[in-house]
Amino acid sequence: MSEIEKAIGVFDSGLGGISVLKELRRWMPKERYLYFGDSAFAPYGEKERDIITQRCLHICDKLVHIGVKAIVIACNTATSACVEELRKRYPQLPIVGMEPALKPAVEGKEHQQVIVMATHFTLKEKKFEHLMSRYRKQHCIYKLPTPKLVEIVEHDQLENTTLVEKTLQDYLAPYDLSHIDSIVLGCTHFVFFKEQIRHIVKDKVTLVDGNAGTSRHVKELLSEKNTLQKESGHAKVTILNSSDDPAYITLSEKLLYR
Ligand code: DGL
Repeated sequence: MSEIEKAIGVFDSGLGGISVLKELRRWMPKERYLYFGDSAFAPYGEKERDIITQRCLHICDKLVHIGVKAIVIACNTATSACVEELRKRYPQLPIVGMEPALKPAVEGKEHQQVIVMATHFTLKEKKFEHLMSRYRKQHCIYKLPTPKLVEIVEHDQLENTTLVEKTLQDYLAPYDLSHIDSIVLGCTHFVFFKEQIRHIVKDKVTLVDGNAGTSRHVKELLSEKNTLQKESGHAKVTILNSSDDPAYITLSEKLLYR
C-alpha cells in the first residue's frame, strides 16, 4: 500500500478521541482512519505517568505494525504523559498531540477569566504548568478536574440528561459564571458535553476545544509531506478497542455518527 493510501491512526484512553475523529473527517473526508480506544484501561486521567506511557507505546506499536501514515494522540492526558517518548520511538512518523486550548481562549484579549476543564493528570503536569505560566499574569485561570465526565461517556450515559445536568451543575457551582469569559474543554471526552454546558452557561461564555486546531494541523502536515488522500474511494473508518466487550465498538459508532 502506498503512503498516501495508508490510514491515519487516532487513539485515546477510550471514546473521547471519537470527538477528534469526527472533526478530522470534516477536514479530511477522503482519508482512511484507524481508531483505537483503550477503554479497558480508561481513565488515564487518574493513572500514573509510567502506566499511561506503557499503554500508549503498546497502542502505537500496534498502529505502526498495521501501517499508518500519521498518528493523532486524541487525548490531552496521553500527550502530556508521553508525546516526546512516542516521537523518539517513531522519528519518521508525524505524531500530533493535543493540549488544552488555553492559547486560543486568551490570545488577543485582556484580563480573561477562564476555566480549564481537564483530567487531574493533565492539570498537574509540567506541560500544563508551562502553558499556564505564559498566561497567568494577564489572565485569571481556574483549573477544574472533572473525571466524572469521562465515566459518563465510557458508560454510555450521555443521554441520561438528569445525571449529565447534575454533574455539570455540581462542577460549575463554585464559579460565578457571569464573570467567566470562556471554558476550555481540555479533554477530548468533554467535547460531547458542549450542548449541555452551553445550556448551563448561556451565550456569554465561549466554549473552546482543540479539535479543529488539531485537525487543521494534521491536514497541513500531510499536505507538506504530500501524503494527503486525493481520491474519495478509499475513505473508511476502522474502530478497534482494547475491551473485549463489543458494546464499546457500537458506542464508538454511535458517537461518531450522532
Ligand atoms: N480523553 C482524555 C483526554 O483528552 C482523557 C480521559 C481519561 O482517560 O481520563 O485527556
